[in-house]
Amino acid sequence: MSANQVQPKLIIHGGAGGHLKSEKGEEVVRQALYGIVEEVYALLAAGNSATDAVIRGCQLLEDQQTFNAGTGSVLQSDGQIRMSAALMDGSKQRFSGVINVSRVQHPIELAKFLQGQEDRVLSDYGASELLRELNVPIYDPLVDIRLKEWMQERDENFNKDMAGVVAEQALVHEARQGTIGVVALDCNGKIAAGTSTGGKGLERIGRVSDSAMPAGNYADASAGVSCTGIGEDIMEECLAAKVVIRVTDGMSLVEAMEKSMAESRSRQRDLGAIAIASDGTISWGKTSEVILAAYHDGQNIGDTINWNNEELVGYQ
Ligand code: GLY
Repeated sequence: MSANQVQPKLIIHGGAGGHLKSEKGEEVVRQALYGIVEEVYALLAAGNSATDAVIRGCQLLEDQQTFNAGTGSVLQSDGQIRMSAALMDGSKQRFSGVINVSRVQHPIELAKFLQGQEDRVLSDYGASELLRELNVPIYDPLVDIRLKEWMQERDENFNKDMAGVVAEQALVHEARQGTIGVVALDCNGKIAAGTSTGGKGLERIGRVSDSAMPAGNYADASAGVSCTGIGEDIMEECLAAKVVIRVTDGMSLVEAMEKSMAESRSRQRDLGAIAIASDGTISWGKTSEVILAAYHDGQNIGDTINWNNEELVGYQ
């Protein structure tokens, strides 16, 4: 690393929600997250940009059928999968995303393409047209366990608010929320954030997720944030943008996260967030029982799977 370069930092998440049921379940999630953290951190260490690292991290998480994004996405009330994803390049303060797109392996790739376009957020029909234009192969992200989950819900007359966050029934204690996200700081001090989701699961057709809004995914030159949890709660807190703007205005990332989480808690929100600031601080917060995140600070890899709001979190 040359004198004017900074130590890259990385944090990723695979959703937030209720406690995992078993230690075995925790280990499955931990191994999945650690493998991706190692691969993506190696890109940052080799000098790749935060944006490229975030895109790769999102692709890898979208490919993990355990998590609710890309392959393994939950089904909506009509039994269809519709996914949303966003990418924000903090150094350009540029946001792009897709809302309720179907039959694609990596929704984050559409967000990547849209970074360079004048129209940067496309919804269902426009996103399908873009897939055709780009000749992206048709892909079915459905996995058996999500179909079984939906069929069970149908038998029970859809009386649950949302689908499970992870796609192994044995790992799930109760209804949970899933999304994936990546925030990175590269060796040039630039930040990017990416978020991708299958939504809440069982939602009304046309419902829009927070994940492709600045409420759920935001970055500028000072910080980047990716959120997870109930999209409506995240939108009403405008969580990602709020944390980033607090840092831009001079608050430390840990203070900004704590204040924003305290506000969310006071309004009984169900959500979580991961973040990195340009000073190298890695942070996270939640009001839900767990947030499934892992990070790399340049020396060590750690995770938040058993973190219980015991202390203010900020690593440099
Ligand atoms: N946070 C993902 C969603 O509610 O759609």
